[in-house]
Amino acid sequence: MPVLTLASSKGGCGKTTIATSLAAVLAADGVDVALLDADPNGGAYRWATATYTGPKVASYAEPDKDRLADLLPVLADRHAVLIADTAGFGNLAATICMLGADAILIPVSPGEGDVIEARKTVSFVEGLARTARRPIPARIVLNRIRKGTTLSRHTLSELEALSLPRLQTAISEAVAYGELGFSGALPMTGPATAEIAGLVAELRNHGWLPPVYVNA
Ligand SMILES: Nc1ncnc2c1ncn2[C@@H]1O[C@H](COP(=O)(O)OP(=O)(O)O)[C@@H](O)[C@H]1O
Ligand SMILES: [Mg+2]
Repeated sequence: MPVLTLASSKGGCGKTTIATSLAAVLAADGVDVALLDADPNGGAYRWATATYTGPKVASYAEPDKDRLADLLPVLADRHAVLIADTAGFGNLAATICMLGADAILIPVSPGEGDVIEARKTVSFVEGLARTARRPIPARIVLNRIRKGTTLSRHTLSELEALSLPRLQTAISEAVAYGELGFSGALPMTGPATAEIAGLVAELRNHGWLPPVYVNA
């Protein structure tokens, strides 16, 4: 049921990486998870269908705005969790995925541009929520963090200065994420998986993911 949308007008901030990592970790937990790729580049869909080797992740690619508006609610009903990956909000497909979301995750990687684009994305979601006349929670997820580096600290203080809402879990810069695109599943041990599991736990606490399934 819940729909999580990865969005940011900034390219390369980690939308596809976080979408696919979340899908892999949820699938490993036995959750019926689906990836909906609304980016015409189709990176998440390619990953799910051609590279990924783990437990089943249902995958759909639909960058066409008209078909997407029909498909998204159907998939939200069909699967326990739907993760939508977008190309940014300069397109209607991404806007539809934001309107249909229970929560929006906005990755921010250290460096020029990501914080500015994240801020724009947060205001855009606020406008959408006012238009839809329902709350649409949006949270920043820090990505590619290298602890102790000036750039990571600087990014964090910029976010705090702008009072942008963010999740506690931060995703590190790690080879495992880069390799995800080549090797399929995230390794099911190691710090990257633990981080994504932490992200899942935090999202569950917010009620944006269903509670843990206990297989009888
Ligand atoms: N936490 C991370 N650690 C290492 N590499 C990362 C991380 N997040 C993203 N990347 C790499 O950065 C590039 C852009 O990430 P991607 O998820 O495709 O961004 P977006 O979908 O927002 O355009 C990819 O090559 C990806 O492997
Ligand atoms: Mg992408």
